[in-house]
Amino acid sequence: MSKSKSPECLDLENLLGITEELNHIKDIDSLLDHILHNARQFCKAEAGSIFLREKDHLIFSYVQNDMLVKREKNYNKRIYDKFTIPINRESIAGYVADTGKALKIDDVYIINDTVPYSFNSSFDEMSSYRTKSILTIPLITSRDNITGVIQIINPQLGDDVTIFTDLHSQYVTFLANNASVAIERAQMTREIILRMIRMAELRDPKETGAHVNRVGAYSIEIYQRIAQKRGDSPETIRHTKDHLRIAAMLHDVGKVAISDSILKKPARLDDDEFTIMQTHCASGADLFDGNVSELDLLSARIALTHHEKFDGSGYPNALEGGQIPLPGRIVALADVYDALISKRVYKEEWPDEEVLKYITDQSGIHFDPEVVEAFFDVHEVLKAVGKRYPD
Ligand code: C2E
Ligand code: SIN
Ligand code: SIN
Ligand code: FE
Ligand code: FE
Repeated sequence: MSKSKSPECLDLENLLGITEELNHIKDIDSLLDHILHNARQFCKAEAGSIFLREKDHLIFSYVQNDMLVKREKNYNKRIYDKFTIPINRESIAGYVADTGKALKIDDVYIINDTVPYSFNSSFDEMSSYRTKSILTIPLITSRDNITGVIQIINPQLGDDVTIFTDLHSQYVTFLANNASVAIERAQMTREIILRMIRMAELRDPKETGAHVNRVGAYSIEIYQRIAQKRGDSPETIRHTKDHLRIAAMLHDVGKVAISDSILKKPARLDDDEFTIMQTHCASGADLFDGNVSELDLLSARIALTHHEKFDGSGYPNALEGGQIPLPGRIVALADVYDALISKRVYKEEWPDEEVLKYITDQSGIHFDPEVVEAFFDVHEVLKAVGKRYPD
């Protein structure tokens, strides 16, 4: 939790500041992280999650739980869990999404039987967590569209779990109303990026956006680990992750300029073909040229440097070591890891042990040793990413 104080009343300046902040976040997962963090901070709540709506289901989209973070080494795996809840009145989240009404429950294990919903204790059982008080608020846009629900769990008073107050409800409702618009916009950004990527890479119908979703997620997990080890501030880490995921997803957009005969060749490329293939780095960087936003700069930098190698034997500029920007060094490993564990038109997937051995062997050669170390630290989390975005 960051240091900022939790106000005793809804102070307008603070609320406007938060709305302003939300509107600057571009990546959908960063946005959910931010909203949840903020709501939990105000209520001093131990846990929470956000579900987003897709047709007649809620998709579990983001989770935070301070107690489990302390207890579980690979806690971040949970962020990539994937399950859905039908929108109907049987579950708490389903009820709120169906009716658009908020629910404040003091103890989910004592819900009286005059209401249609009940608490699903399977998550508690799985993780030996005890959910008690839950505040569930719909995320509603200005057009009365329910985008999802936010659920905040177990507010603390000292070391004890207490119940939610009306002030808590008011605050989270305010946040939910303002967040919904930002969520819709961030979802649109994600969709536009995936469309760009489809144009660039997915001319082959066997390919999906899964590779780029994975590379984006691997990159931020590795980055976060490095930044934590270096002692960077939580604010810096959050801010960087927001841009890094999107920019990493775009690492190969320059492939839009590569002809099908090379891009989809079901065999090894010859030297001339590989020389043409290498132009995808500069073509990608050119797409972001002339723009000065942080996201554009980072996207250009990653597109240009993701095939540089730590020992200076990479392309297009044969940079070495610290000459290669850190994001380029991170995406280099994330991209190759995913390429090796996946089947490609020109190669089979490699067995896990061989991939890990290769990465170890290439530490200091192709890859930055600091990045390799962070990769192994978060390897279990990266495997969860792979399950969330299968081919
Ligand atoms: P990609 O398939 O996404 O692969 C990204 C990087 O992963 C490659 O960069 C390379 O560093 C690594 N990689 C992928 N497969 C293997 C492998 O079997 N062995 C080893 N040691 N490393 C591997 P690279 O080489 O610069 O290639 C860039 C892109 O060029 C590839 O992206 C792919 O789209 C294309 N490409 C490279 N070689 C071939 C090929 O022989 N045939 C075809 N059709 N495309 C190729
Ligand atoms: C993919 O999206 O998996 C295909 C592009 C690539 O080989 O990197
Ligand atoms: C950067 O290039 O973004 C930072 C370089 C580093 O921290 O090693
Ligand atoms: Fe590439
Ligand atoms: Fe790639």
